Amino acid sequence: MTGKTGRTSLTIVLAAGEGTRMRSSLPKVLHPVANQSLLAHVLSAAPKGPGAALAVVIGPNHQSVADEVARVRPDAKTFIQRERLGTAHAVLAARDAIAPGADDLLVAFGDTPLISAETFEHLRAPLKKGAALAVLGFRAADPTGYGRLLVEGDQLVAIREQADASAEERAIKLCNAGVMAFDGHKALSIIDKIGNANSKGEYYLTDAVSIVRDLGLEAVVIETSEDEVRGINTKAQLAEAEQVMQARLRKAALEAGVTLIAPETVYLAADTVFGKDVTIEPFVVIGAGVSIADGAVIHSFSHIVQASIGKKASIGPYARLRPGTSLGDGVRIGNFVEIKAAVIEAGAKVNHLSYVGDAHVGEGANLGAGTITCNYDGFSKHKTEIGEGAFIGTNSSLVAPVKIGKRAYIGSGSVITKNVPDDAMAVERSQQTTREGGAKRYREIKMRSKTPKA
Ligand code: UD1
Ligand code: CA
Repeated sequence: MTGKTGRTSLTIVLAAGEGTRMRSSLPKVLHPVANQSLLAHVLSAAPKGPGAALAVVIGPNHQSVADEVARVRPDAKTFIQRERLGTAHAVLAARDAIAPGADDLLVAFGDTPLISAETFEHLRAPLKKGAALAVLGFRAADPTGYGRLLVEGDQLVAIREQADASAEERAIKLCNAGVMAFDGHKALSIIDKIGNANSKGEYYLTDAVSIVRDLGLEAVVIETSEDEVRGINTKAQLAEAEQVMQARLRKAALEAGVTLIAPETVYLAADTVFGKDVTIEPFVVIGAGVSIADGAVIHSFSHIVQASIGKKASIGPYARLRPGTSLGDGVRIGNFVEIKAAVIEAGAKVNHLSYVGDAHVGEGANLGAGTITCNYDGFSKHKTEIGEGAFIGTNSSLVAPVKIGKRAYIGSGSVITKNVPDDAMAVERSQQTTREGGAKRYREIKMRSKTPKA
């Protein structure tokens, strides 16, 4: 967004480094919050649209991070920081993007996922009034690890990193959130002056503040809440950010009219789409890529990922909808049912203890308890087609590839390996034998041979 001000912007997101304190082989910025990478959250909040350029600085050998950038913001350019020499050094990896000179240069961190688009805009406001630098600050409940903001009145004087701060400075609660806005035309000359004379020998972007002051220019603080700017260096901080994000998503869902009976027990994804009058019972987990249409009810203990759920559908309790599930209006999926890569047309029912995978189920079909699509032969997946209005008796195995015709009827307990035509009845099971008095005789024989209890 060029914003209401009509100013152009360049946002640089710093995402290099392994994040060793995460103790993970996954690059730090790819860890998920609400089923979306930390980086994706930041990239989505960064200014977009005409006049808004985006650059991401990543580490060497981090193709997975580059792929995530391309997926989330195809308009972004990526730059590689070959050595991890500090946040100022990282910004300069994107020198080619900075050099042309946007009006506003914004810097954000890939490990600060809760930042909002509004905050980016707030931070740009002082630049319009002539400040050379605006830094996003917050009052930390526990400031340990953050850079402290040293202020005089409304002027920002310096930022002191934890490792370089005196005991007195460490007591300061006002901290650097990591998001900064520079006058884009002065930014390069300021950042080029940053040295590495500190306890870590790193080029700290935070030193830009004292440089701005030395140049006789103005640096200011814009304050925001801690919940928006939690930086994530550890798994514990990742879990805290998840809680903040879930609280936001639940609030937004409630405001959009979703009924959450026990909101604190429902987990949502950042991209969940709700229709009107959706009800979600306690203890439901919703992963990425889920849409739930008007009037649908998700009963307790259901787990749903990459699935679209039709109007007035009823899911669970204890249902699992896996990627590629598409349910029509009024579909009923009951307890202990797993659906994967399957289209289930309007009004069809799969009410109990079933697995339906790689399948198409026609309108109004009824799959009895324990219906299993045998979709995998140990080598490849095969498709099951069930025609509209078909009735599958309980405990049937449908060995794919197989087609069950419209309105066909499958007898309970059948193992169906051959196609069944429309309106046909197929029963596959051996003849039942019934012996009159057989149970009584059996018990008598068993009683006679039973060893008496000692
Ligand atoms: C940084 C700030 C600190 C602030 C805190 C907020 C500096 C020197 N310190 O500290 O004032 O309170 O964030 O969360 O800026 N990165 C690179 N290349 C590098 C170094 C870092 O790309 O060479 C990236 C990291 O991937 C990360 C971000 O920059 O996304 C911040 O780096 P990190 O090491 O997490 O800085 P903090 O110590 O948290
Ligand atoms: Ca950090």
